[in-house]
Amino acid sequence: MTDDAVTVEDAPERPRTTDAAPTTPANPAPPRIEAAAPRSAPVATGPMPMYTRDLSAFFGSHKAVENITLDFPRNTVTALIGPSGCGKSTYIRCLNRMHEMVPRARCTGSVYLRDIDIYAREADPVAVRRAVGMVFQRPNPFPTKSIADNILAGPKFTRTKLNKSERTDLVERTLRGAGLWDEVKNRLDAQAGGLSGGQQQRLCIARALAEEPDVLLMDEPCSALDPQSTLRIEDLIRSIKDRVTIVIVTHNMQQAARVSDFTAFITIENEGEPGRLIETGPTAEIFGNPQHARTEAYVSGRFG
Ligand SMILES: Nc1ncnc2c1ncn2[C@@H]1O[C@H](COP(=O)(O)OP(=O)(O)O)[C@@H](O)[C@H]1O
Ligand SMILES: [Mg+2]
Repeated sequence: MTDDAVTVEDAPERPRTTDAAPTTPANPAPPRIEAAAPRSAPVATGPMPMYTRDLSAFFGSHKAVENITLDFPRNTVTALIGPSGCGKSTYIRCLNRMHEMVPRARCTGSVYLRDIDIYAREADPVAVRRAVGMVFQRPNPFPTKSIADNILAGPKFTRTKLNKSERTDLVERTLRGAGLWDEVKNRLDAQAGGLSGGQQQRLCIARALAEEPDVLLMDEPCSALDPQSTLRIEDLIRSIKDRVTIVIVTHNMQQAARVSDFTAFITIENEGEPGRLIETGPTAEIFGNPQHARTEAYVSGRFG
């Protein structure tokens, strides 16, 4: 990387030059709503940590999602909902440049992180993935590493030399923040693989938070968990959103209603077409007063 390259980590608040900077980068338009009816704008103020513009994603020649323009306001939770196969995972994986790790996968359009296009030529994918954490459906801690070492496993800490007390402090602070400390404080050296599924998932969230990301992506983080563990993850989501902006894919409508501030509904209209954003807005409105018949049918459980 050259000296003057823009990385996500050390990027200025505003882009110096980007190919397609939005017209009002510090305060972009509210989520696009296809319905003609007016709808209240997001309540969040201040700059958007993340937004996408006309994002399309492909696997080879197959277009999986098309032209998704969405904003993720700071310190809010946005739920992505839609039937299986509509492209939710594909879209979310474009938000931290994981999509491109699939052979022949690519995307077009833009993803802005702190007003920097993460697909700009100078952007560093490793820095992007550090700033945009991800949690998956199946908890994926390092099973043979200790609980403490899972927290310290992130690239930030493998590069940074912390002394023993700094490491101890970081582990405790992070595990407390993830609501896991009391359950594991007496076995920090035990293997992470010995934790329950719900604990492992909270450990994965803790590991992601230890990197102090701007955005945390969660792709159906509770679908492998029992109801009680699910509620604990939801509590955790609510407690961390003052620190991180959250995008969560869920097929559980009650979960979307419980944890999210905004909801975006994506669907495929006809077989073989890409997934498209149908409607987005405050969660209460998407569930209580959707503008599109397709949204209404989906949130009421009549299809999908
Ligand atoms: N690795 C892949 N290779 C090729 N096609 C894929 C791959 N992953 C997903 N797809 C296709 O992309 C579309 C969207 O899938 P996905 O993003 O997983 O949907 P969702 O998460 O909403 O269920 C589907 O048609 C799926 O078959
Ligand atoms: Mg998926």
